[in-house]
Amino acid sequence: MRSFSPAFCTELIELMKWRRDVRHFKPGAVDAGLLRDCLAAFSLSPSVGLSEPWRLVRVNSPGNRLKMLDNFKSSNRDALAGYSGDKATIYAGLKLSGMQEAPVQLAIFCDEETLKGAGLGAKTMPEMRRYSVVTAIMAFWLRARAEGLGVGWVSILDPVRLQRDLAVPESWRLVAYLCIGWPEKDDADKPELEKIGWEVRSPQAPEMIER
Ligand SMILES: Cc1cc2nc3c(=O)[nH]c(=O)nc-3n(C[C@H](O)[C@H](O)[C@H](O)COP(=O)(O)O)c2cc1C
Repeated sequence: MRSFSPAFCTELIELMKWRRDVRHFKPGAVDAGLLRDCLAAFSLSPSVGLSEPWRLVRVNSPGNRLKMLDNFKSSNRDALAGYSGDKATIYAGLKLSGMQEAPVQLAIFCDEETLKGAGLGAKTMPEMRRYSVVTAIMAFWLRARAEGLGVGWVSILDPVRLQRDLAVPESWRLVAYLCIGWPEKDDADKPELEKIGWEVRSPQAPEMIER
């Protein structure tokens, strides 16, 4: 049985503690080889029936970048309208995407109709395919952080509009829009939302109820 040293386990916990959702990036390209190495985390990830339903689009062209940013801005305006009082004030001051600066932007989809895996495990709960994509994103997130790269997950988007703008197949559903680049600061000991007073992280492992 392959085992891992206590020192490695400590480092792993540190990596999980210091993984952050990053929305402030400093200028600087991400080397293509490094990005590829980090993306290899996808192929190490679990997926229902080994279906590997993740589909990735690197959004590069200025025209598409602008469309994505417009999508975010209008979705964010709508979201702000749903808050009032103090929450609205805090929300208005949040930076909720790094889409203006992030050198690498990936739209990550789930192919809901993939034939890979022959449907194993997804008959009663087809949403398991999307969950599979999420597990792979998490592996990528940690791998990227280990290399010093920041990853920010943007979900304040209209997914139908985004799919149309990127002209992806009908069977693909948006799971994540990731902004990736070099973090502006290295002071990320806490989530930004915690620092700003929006929400707090639970300090311990979740309670379990018994049945
Ligand atoms: C599925 C998902 C969607 C998210 N969407 C957004 C988003 O649209 N904008 C944003 O600023 N942060 C987004 N986040 C980041 C969370 O706000 C962040 O993970 C949380 O505040 C905890 O901070 P941490 O990731 O730095 O630990 C998202 C995170 C996840 C997991």
